[in-house]
Amino acid sequence: MLKNRSLVSIRDLSRAEIELVLDTAHKLENHRGRHLEHRQVALLFYEASTRTRNSFLTAVHQLGGSEAGFSSGEGSSVAKGESLHDTIKMFSAYCDAIVLRHPRDGAARWAADVSDVPIINAGDGKNQHPTQTLLDLYAIRATQGRIENLSIGIMGDLKYGRTVHSLVDALRLFPGVQIHCISPDSLALPQSYGPHQVHHRLEDVIPQVDVLYCTRIQRERLPDEAEYEKVKGIYRLNAAHLHHARPHLKILHPLPRVDEIHPDVDATPHAYYFQQAAGGVAVRKALLYLLLGLQ
Ligand code: CP
Repeated sequence: MLKNRSLVSIRDLSRAEIELVLDTAHKLENHRGRHLEHRQVALLFYEASTRTRNSFLTAVHQLGGSEAGFSSGEGSSVAKGESLHDTIKMFSAYCDAIVLRHPRDGAARWAADVSDVPIINAGDGKNQHPTQTLLDLYAIRATQGRIENLSIGIMGDLKYGRTVHSLVDALRLFPGVQIHCISPDSLALPQSYGPHQVHHRLEDVIPQVDVLYCTRIQRERLPDEAEYEKVKGIYRLNAAHLHHARPHLKILHPLPRVDEIHPDVDATPHAYYFQQAAGGVAVRKALLYLLLGLQ
């Protein structure tokens, strides 16, 4: 059902398709194979990445494939001014799939329109980060046993955070999910993302949620440094905040963190962000497996 398709937005997937990805990821957790032997995946990263790029790279290797591409525009002809159109045309001739991270909203959709092979959006501007959302859902399901009927807090930069946008879109597919947003007014979730409860204080939300999804302020996407100075450090979750948390509360974060989660949270049973990120390899193996129709 996903073979030869691109993944540009989480809205491209139905609930059944999301669950298929999560189930396949579970099956592939510790799996190594030769499914991708003699096939190549392009990793085109126009923006910095630690987790997304390297978990895709690991996924490609664990499935027996090889990679091409670049981890910044500097070492490629992008530095000479080559357009996204021409770069995608070339890599779609060399490779079986393209994983693309780009600073411009909509870049992945544009790439999918010109590519002959599946495009996987690894983050486009402030718009979407669908593969992150799949691993976020994987972590939610692993820790809570379900996704529906949960109360989920989302804290931080909800205006420019692409992981938030695709996560909220996905949660709408699961009945009974309540979304509590915690942000300053200047970084509020746009109303176009649908109904949600608005909060300003972290302390008000912690006792009533099953999952708290923290995000960093997207300094690089704010209009200027003055705007950043107004909101920097506004939320700093620490272990003391968690005294009134539900016992099963899990703290998630797409990472990297800056100062929004104090390291003293790491040792609490609520911290799950490193396990969440580790699940990215299985989820990305599942995506390659399904989108490329591997056997
Ligand atoms: N979560 C995430 O996208 O991390 P990277 O920017 O390190 O890929």
